[in-house]
Amino acid sequence: MASDLFRARRVAPSILSADFARLGAQVDEVMGAGARVIHVDVMDGHFVPPITIGPLIVSALADRVHSAGGALDVHLMIERPEGHVAEFAKAGADGITIHAEATPHLHYTLAEIRAAGCGAGIAICPGTHPLLLAEVAEDTLDLALCMSVNPGWGGQQFIEPSLGKLTRMREALPADVVLEVDGGINQDTAPQCVAAGANLLVAGSAVFGAKDPAAAYTALAAAAGAI
Ligand code: DX5
Ligand code: ZN
Repeated sequence: MASDLFRARRVAPSILSADFARLGAQVDEVMGAGARVIHVDVMDGHFVPPITIGPLIVSALADRVHSAGGALDVHLMIERPEGHVAEFAKAGADGITIHAEATPHLHYTLAEIRAAGCGAGIAICPGTHPLLLAEVAEDTLDLALCMSVNPGWGGQQFIEPSLGKLTRMREALPADVVLEVDGGINQDTAPQCVAAGANLLVAGSAVFGAKDPAAAYTALAAAAGAI
């Protein structure tokens, strides 16, 4: 995929819980502590109730993140994402993840993401069976994202059956497909997700909700055995 940074075991801080009035400085703080994958949550007010951010913010962060050796992991919680792939790629996304529940055209959209030069991912909600990933796994999939909360908000509690789901996904997916988990990741749940087979751990409130995001990142990465 576009960025090999996604393949290692890493904690990916989600800027959803950052202080947006000082977003650049907050990203610098976690990258200074070693973070290299920055997770960007895009919500449209339709697929999920909240509206968050769009390509302008991706573009505003892209140079800063890339020049520090990092990558932008863009999680699209939007309906019919196929109409928006090009603008996020142009804004500087390195990986673009769409929701399985948000379009009937998964194969087409994944191919569109790859053609735009980005890694192509599919996220599934807690109520979605991972079986459909098998249909695209060999062909067009770089990353699978298991939501361990219902998408839309930071700070929710980890849904325990996600651990079994991660294990099943890891077993079913080709070895080179990144397995990401998102929601309720903290020092307790992170090592459990790693044991279940996840390698990319998204953390929002556990990092940016802390008084010292850099220290929180370092502690979480250590708990997960991440680099
Ligand atoms: C939720 C988002 C997450 C969110 C996670 O819909 O996809 O990336 O930032 O937040 P925490 O880590 O607080 O559960
Ligand atoms: Zn996310």
